[in-house]
Amino acid sequence: MCRENPHTETLPRGFQLLHDPVLNKGTAFTEAERDALGLRGLLPPRLHTQDVQAMRVLENLRRKTTDLERYIYLVSLQDRNETLFYRVVVDHLDEMMPLIYTPTVGKACQAYGHIFRRPRGLFISAEDQGRVVNLLRNWPYEDIRIIVVTDGERILGLGDLGADGMGIPIGKLALYTACAGIRPTWCLPVTLDVGTENESLLNDPLYIGLQRRRMRGAAYDEFVEEFVTAVETVFPHAIVQFEDFANANAFRLLAKYRNRICTFDDDIQGTGSVALAGLYSALRLTGGQLRDRTYLFFGAGEAGIGIADLIVAAMGAEGLPEAEARRRCWFVDSKGLVVRSRSDLAPHKRPYAHEHEFIADFLSAIEVLRPAAIIGVSGVAGAFTRPMLEAMAAHNERPVVFALSNPTSQAECTAEQAYAWTEGRAIFASGSPFDPVEYRGRTYVPGQGNNAYIFPGVGLGVIASEARRVTDEMFFVAAKALAREVSTADLELGRMYPPLPRIREVSLSIATAVAEVAYARGLAQAPKPHDLSEHIRSQMYEPVYPNYVP
Ligand code: NAI
Repeated sequence: MCRENPHTETLPRGFQLLHDPVLNKGTAFTEAERDALGLRGLLPPRLHTQDVQAMRVLENLRRKTTDLERYIYLVSLQDRNETLFYRVVVDHLDEMMPLIYTPTVGKACQAYGHIFRRPRGLFISAEDQGRVVNLLRNWPYEDIRIIVVTDGERILGLGDLGADGMGIPIGKLALYTACAGIRPTWCLPVTLDVGTENESLLNDPLYIGLQRRRMRGAAYDEFVEEFVTAVETVFPHAIVQFEDFANANAFRLLAKYRNRICTFDDDIQGTGSVALAGLYSALRLTGGQLRDRTYLFFGAGEAGIGIADLIVAAMGAEGLPEAEARRRCWFVDSKGLVVRSRSDLAPHKRPYAHEHEFIADFLSAIEVLRPAAIIGVSGVAGAFTRPMLEAMAAHNERPVVFALSNPTSQAECTAEQAYAWTEGRAIFASGSPFDPVEYRGRTYVPGQGNNAYIFPGVGLGVIASEARRVTDEMFFVAAKALAREVSTADLELGRMYPPLPRIREVSLSIATAVAEVAYARGLAQAPKPHDLSEHIRSQMYEPVYPNYVP
C-alpha cells in the first residue's frame, strides 16, 4: 500500500500545514503531531478518526438539496483535505462518481464561472504563448505522471464551454486516483484556453476564460506544440491525455503525437475499449462471435470511430481481414448513412464509407442493414425512438442498444425506454448512469459503459511499467480484461460491466494486462518485477493518513 509520504523535516507547520490539502488531516492530527507541528490551539481539542470525519462529510453532503451543491461541497473538501476526499469517494463510489464526474460535472462546467471558488489545475491561455514552459514550472509538484488536458471545445455532449471545461480534467484525474490509486500529486489538470465560440460565455461577466474567439489553424497548432514541448521538458515522465477536444482537432492531434510522446485520447481510444468490453459481455448472452455481427452507429465522431476501430482490431484478432471487418461497421451521421458516394465526409469517416445506396434516416438504416447492435454516440438526446427499438427487437432476439452519449440528459434513449420498447429483451448500456428499471415484474440494472472503467487502469499500467507509448493494443487488452471481470450474476441482472465498487480490482487487472503489453513490445522502461500484479498493487495510493510524528 502506498501513501503520500512527505519528509517530516520539510513539513510545513501550524496554519500552513492545516491549509495544505495534500498534508492536512484536520481534527485527525494526533496529540504528538499537534505538539511537534505547532498545531495546538489551531484545532478543537477533540481528536477524530478519519472514519468519524467521513461520517461528518456524508452527513453534510446528503443534507444538500441539489447535485450541483454536492459537487461544490466535494470540491471544497478536495481543496481542504485530499486524503479525506479520496477516502469518502473510494468508499462510496456508486454515490460519488455521478457527483464528481458525469452527469453532475457537466452541470458544474456549465455553471463553472458562477460556482468558482478556488483555482485548481493549470490554466494556460493563448496570451501565454512563448512562456508556457514557465507556467508549467509554477506548478508546485515536480513529479507529474499524468496530465489531462482539454481546450474545452467539446465538453461531454454539451459543446464549447471554453475555460469552464476545466471541471473535466479535474474530475477525470480524481477518477484516476479513486479508481486506480494514482497518487494525487502525480496528476495535473490543464486547460488550454484558446478562446470560445460560446456567445453566452463571451457575454457572461463571470466567465473565467479569455473573452475572445477561438484561435484556429497554424496558430492553434503552434500553441499546442509549445505545450507538448514544454511538457517534455518539465514533466518528462508524464502521460498526456487529450480530453474533450472537438473531433477535427482530436483526430489530428492523436495522429501527430501518438508516435512521438506518451499520449492517448480517451474520447477515441478509451471509449473504444469500454464499448468493446460491453459488446464482449453482450456476446455471452447472445452467443456467437464479434465477427459475425453488424454494428450500426448513430454519430460518427471521436467516440463512434474510436469504438469501430477497436471492433475492427478485435475482429482481426478473430481472423477477419481488416476490409471485411470494416464492412461490419456502419455509420449514420447528421446527414444520413455514411456511404462511398458522399462527398462531404471528414477524413476519419472515410474508412467506413461503404459502397451502398444512400439512406437518409436511422430507422431505414436499421431496416435495411439489420444490425445486431445500435450504438448511440451523437450527443443527441432521445434520438433512439420507439419505432427504431421495435425494429431492433423485430430483427434480434436480444437487440444490443448502447446509448453512450453523456451526460444522462443527452442519452439517445433512457434505460426504461430501451427495456419497454423491446419487451425487456434489450441488452442495454449507457454512458451516464441510469437507475434500475422495473419492467413486467423484473428488475433490470443497466450497466454504465463509462470510460472510467478503462482509462484509470490503462494509466496505472503505463505508469507502473514506465511505458514510452500508449498503443491501441493496450486498449484492446484492457477491453478483454474488463470483460473478464463481468460475472454471470452481473449479466443476469442486465449489467454489461462489473459493479463500480469493484473498480479498483478491475483497474488492477487492466493495469497488469497493459503493463504486460508494454514489456512484451519493448516499450517498458521500468525493470520487470517478478510478480507484476502484486508490484502494481503495492504502488496504488490508499487514502490513509500518514503519521508525521511516529
Ligand atoms: P463528436 O462531436 O466527435 O461526434 C458527434 C457525432 O454525432 C458526429 O459525427 C455528428 O455528425 C453526429 N451527430 C450530431 N447530430 C446528429 C444527428 N442529429 N443525427 C445523426 N448524427 C448526429 O463527439 P464524440 O466525441 O464522438 O461524442 C459524442 C457523444 O458521445 C457525447 O455525448 C459524448 O459525451 C459521448 N461519449 C461517451 C463516452 C462514454 O461514456 N463511454 C465516451 C466518449 C464520448
